[in-house]
Amino acid sequence: MTQLSLSILSADFSDLRKTLETAKSGGADYIHMDVMDGHFVPNISFGSAVIASLAGKTELPFDVHLMTEEPDDILERYVTENTEYITVHCEACRHLDRVLRRIKSLGAKCGVALNPATHPAALDYVLDYADQILVMSVNPGFGGQSFIPGVLDKIRLYSEMRSERGLNFKIAADGGINTENMRSVIEAGADILTVGSAAVSAPDPLSALRKFKEVADAYTE
Ligand code: DX5
Ligand code: ZN
Repeated sequence: MTQLSLSILSADFSDLRKTLETAKSGGADYIHMDVMDGHFVPNISFGSAVIASLAGKTELPFDVHLMTEEPDDILERYVTENTEYITVHCEACRHLDRVLRRIKSLGAKCGVALNPATHPAALDYVLDYADQILVMSVNPGFGGQSFIPGVLDKIRLYSEMRSERGLNFKIAADGGINTENMRSVIEAGADILTVGSAAVSAPDPLSALRKFKEVADAYTE
């Protein structure tokens, strides 16, 4: 069953409760929180204070995506009653293994993201430990960018490695996903699709998200 993680990055920040309601009514499985520090990526979005204030306002779990340099010292700030995953970038962590173990020790599931140009082998030695591999299908930093088709091979490769090694990590895809390209992403092996502007910036976000849900259910056996 393919799951949907609704990114609030392109939502109306003055009315985030409404986006949480849309996520729930539209059938999203997670709320995807894109934290950007202006260093690892050029943009600044929001941080732990916003995430903490949204905790307890929805039943949906949070899927926190940290696009921040060396997140080690601040990880606990992202642990809330809703936090399920905390995902860090392999390119941003000098000691990736230690960061992942810290996330787990804080009681959250750990995810690792990799940029489109990063070789999939960069995660070879953490695959048996990570709970989620987040394959970036755009260069991180902004919502509303176009999907990079070359990353489908990376999703296929992780799906094969998971079967060969008998592992259980989830494969998530993030960036530029719409109802036209989502089938190829699901067929490549993704379990979780991050949905941003194609739903939240649509004229009617709720019906746009419901369409994603319908298509995801139709393509999933
Ligand atoms: C990009 C973010 C994505 C983004 C997805 O840096 O990590 O989660 O918000 O948004 P769309 O679907 O608009 O690409
Ligand atoms: Zn993201």
